[in-house]
Amino acid sequence: MSKASLSNVLPDPQQAETGKAHQVQQMFDRIAGSYDRLNNLISMGFHKQWKRLACDKLNLKAGQKALDVCTGTGDLLTYLLPVVGEQGQVCGLDFSENMLSFARKRYENTPNVSLTQGDALSLPYPDNTFDGAIISFGLRNVTDIPLALREMHRVIKPGGWMVNLDTAPKPLLPGMQFYFANIMPLIGGALAKDNQAYQYLSSSTQHFLTPNELRLAFEEAGCLNVSSETLMLGSVSLQAGQKPA
Ligand SMILES: C[S@@+](CC[C@H](N)C(=O)[O-])C[C@H]1O[C@@H](n2cnc3c(N)ncnc32)[C@H](O)[C@@H]1O
Repeated sequence: MSKASLSNVLPDPQQAETGKAHQVQQMFDRIAGSYDRLNNLISMGFHKQWKRLACDKLNLKAGQKALDVCTGTGDLLTYLLPVVGEQGQVCGLDFSENMLSFARKRYENTPNVSLTQGDALSLPYPDNTFDGAIISFGLRNVTDIPLALREMHRVIKPGGWMVNLDTAPKPLLPGMQFYFANIMPLIGGALAKDNQAYQYLSSSTQHFLTPNELRLAFEEAGCLNVSSETLMLGSVSLQAGQKPA
């Protein structure tokens, strides 16, 4: 796909729905209490192995420093911590204070975890701060995907890796589209008492970039050695790219 065609499929950030970011933030604030339980249920526990695989792509070593953008309840930090070890440092950022409050509780006795309320589109860190940065199930929620990727690229050190893990549109797994569109909002409605939120999660997947478009977006953000793959017969997409050394 050409660069011109990527800009055709991305919404113009200037014209992104007014207040979309605020609505997304409020929605995650609302469902924070049931998020982890529902995540386990909806992914049938598979999100754990996807997250482990995504963290491997960061090529981190003991003692290094990693950033998890859109960390939510901080679930992914669980997979980063054993890799960087006690001498390393793990930072999670999210704009939903309610989601973060669960992460704060979870890591209150883990001194090498720091949690920050902030915007993925304007990361509050200097250039070249982290050895790696990851975003999991977050990118499809931001109003400006290229900017979010440029921000991740900016804050990692030369030679560092950045990774995206998310659901993918047009899965090949039979019944998956039906599951996303019909079953997931029902489960969300029943357990989180918020089927509107789970309808949004489903439609944001259907309108999200394909793995090939994401590969291009990683390259446009300045990454080299970009890889893009799908898991679960195209239901989940995983990209990794390296900041030039
Ligand atoms: C589906 S949750 C993913 C949470 C976690 N990364 C995981 O894999 O379980 C998406 C998270 O992205 C956060 N988010 C969405 N847009 C954001 C933005 N512009 N800046 C910071 N956080 C954002 C939401 O508040 C929410 O916690």
